Amino acid sequence: MKINWMNPHLSPSSLSEGARESLGVGPSFPFTLNAFSMAHYASIIERALAGLSIKRIVEVGVFQGDLSVYILDLARKAGAAVDFIDVAFKPEARARIAGAAGADVSVTFHECASVEALGRIEPVDLLFLDGDHNYETVAMELDLIAAQPGKRILLMHDVGWPCGRRDIAYEPNRLSDPANYDTGELTPFSEEVLKEFGLPFSGAKRWEGGARNGVLTAIEDFRAERGEHWRYWSIPLFFGFGVMWDGNSVTAEEDAHLTNLGASLDAAIPLMAVAELNRLMLLIKLNNAGLIWKRQRDRIRDLEARWSSQT
Ligand SMILES: C[S@@+](CC[C@H](N)C(=O)[O-])C[C@H]1O[C@@H](n2cnc3c(N)ncnc32)[C@H](O)[C@@H]1O
Repeated sequence: MKINWMNPHLSPSSLSEGARESLGVGPSFPFTLNAFSMAHYASIIERALAGLSIKRIVEVGVFQGDLSVYILDLARKAGAAVDFIDVAFKPEARARIAGAAGADVSVTFHECASVEALGRIEPVDLLFLDGDHNYETVAMELDLIAAQPGKRILLMHDVGWPCGRRDIAYEPNRLSDPANYDTGELTPFSEEVLKEFGLPFSGAKRWEGGARNGVLTAIEDFRAERGEHWRYWSIPLFFGFGVMWDGNSVTAEEDAHLTNLGASLDAAIPLMAVAELNRLMLLIKLNNAGLIWKRQRDRIRDLEARWSSQT
C-alpha cells in the first residue's frame, strides 16, 4: 500500500478552538495531508487583488473546482466574467461551478488544451495558471498571454518543488518529447538518497534541471526575453505559488501595490522554506513507512502461505 499523501481520506473535521486560535486558521481548515489547491492561497490572492479593477478572469486547470468557486466570489465582487479551461472537465466540477455562478456571473467553459483556448479569450486581466506543469506548455501559455490585451496579472501554481526545475506532464503524449517521462518517486534530496526517500509522481521528466525543464525555468526564460517590466515574486511552499504581471499594462499604483505585497512577505520567506521542508520530509517518511509496511506484510503473507502448504 502506498500512503496517498494527496487524498488521505481523512474525515473532515475541525481543529479545537485552542489550536485554531494559536495556529490562526479558520474553522474550516482543510483536513488534507497536503494543501494542493491554489484556493489555499486565498489570503494572499485577496490582498493582491485589493483595489485592482478586473474585468475578465481565466482559470487554466480546474480539477475539482476548489479554486473555481473562490474565483466566482472574486468575480461577483468585481463584476468580472470568468473563463474556465480544462482538457477534461469532471462533470461534478462543472456542476459545482455552474451552481456557484448562479445567474449573476457570466461563465464560459473551454474543454480543450489551454493553448487552444488562450489565443481566443480576451482581454485577460487575471489568470490563474495551473494546468500542465512543464516548460513546453507554460512557455506557450505565457507567449499567448503576452500577446493579449488586458492587465495580464498571473497567479501561478507549481513554480516550486517538484515542478520548478522538472517537467511534469498530465499527458506526455501531448508534448514533443513524450519518451522522457516516467512514473516514480521524486525527492528533494541529492541523488545518493534517491532510492530510499521520495514521493510518487506520474508523468515526471527523468531528470531535474538543465535547459527547458520546469515551470520556473519557463518563467525565467520568458522574463529574460520579454524584459524586466514582467515582474515576479514567489512563495517557496511545496508546489510553490508565483505572481507575475506586466508592469506596463497595469497602472503605476497597481504596479506598486503588487510589488509592495511581495516585499512585505520577504522576511517570512526563509522561515516558510524551512517549515515546508520539514513538512515535505515528514510526508516522504510517511510514504516510505507505507512502502516498508507493504513489503513486510507481503513477506508475512508469503511465509504464512508456505507454512500452511507444508502442514
Ligand atoms: C492541479 S489541477 C488544477 C487545480 C485547481 N486549479 C485548484 O487550484 O484547485 C490541474 C488541472 O489541469 C488540467 N490540465 C492538464 N493539462 C492541461 C492543459 N494542457 N490544458 C488545460 N488543462 C489542463 C487537468 O485536467 C487538471 O484538472
